[in-house]
Amino acid sequence: MPLRLLQLTDPHLFGDPGGQLLGITTRRSFESVLALALSESPAPDALILTGDLVHDETPVGYRYLRERLNRTGIPYYCIGGNHDIQSLMMEQLGPAALVSVALRRLDGWNLIFLDSSEPGSDGGRLTETQLTQLTDLLADERAPALICLHHHPAAVGSAWIDRIGVANGASLLDLCNRHPHVKAVLFGHVHQEFSAWHGDCRLLGAPATCFQFEPRSRDFAIDEIPPGYRELMLYPDGRLTTRVVRLVEYAERPLYQAGGY
Ligand SMILES: [Fe+2]
Repeated sequence: MPLRLLQLTDPHLFGDPGGQLLGITTRRSFESVLALALSESPAPDALILTGDLVHDETPVGYRYLRERLNRTGIPYYCIGGNHDIQSLMMEQLGPAALVSVALRRLDGWNLIFLDSSEPGSDGGRLTETQLTQLTDLLADERAPALICLHHHPAAVGSAWIDRIGVANGASLLDLCNRHPHVKAVLFGHVHQEFSAWHGDCRLLGAPATCFQFEPRSRDFAIDEIPPGYRELMLYPDGRLTTRVVRLVEYAERPLYQAGGY
């Protein structure tokens, strides 16, 4: 049986249950996507949350997330994004909060989590220390690997988003190409489905659980498409299949005319 992982990303939660961002009540949209994600069988082996967990820097937002995810009974892993406060995340999420470079072994696969956030910046960067640790880890650990981080390490085709990816993403992609057991790099931040190849390594972005960004847009633009999540099936021989699943419709309409958030 393959491992079944579900990626939920960029929930942008608030301490206030009614907290809205660009017209979306982000707890409500997160709950809707989570319910959809948990409605199919078999139950996932783990949930992966790739950052921008809480938007308003409140402990309450993280506590809600912990309590909600604990209720699923499914193991979960969280990394921070540019909107997260690492100290709050660690304090409230405990061992599920992964920072710097973290390895979790799951049924013959290695899940490697990287903190790509750079304090004070919407963009991301990996430190030399992280890249060195990752190089050593990939040399030692030869099982098929999935790397998870918040920011995108390669351009996704939207000029404004591509200015705030991983500044030194090319270093990460070089490493992946030199270690063919890295099967995919999984990220959030782009609020849209994205899939590409870098050599033999897949690059995968997922819809946010709140509002979506318009693909291939030069400037900030909101897309009408409903929120969703990404499913990944990881096979023992290193094969990986994946798909994006979205709500058929979502009741709230985002503020399409917004120029930013
Ligand atoms: Fe985000």
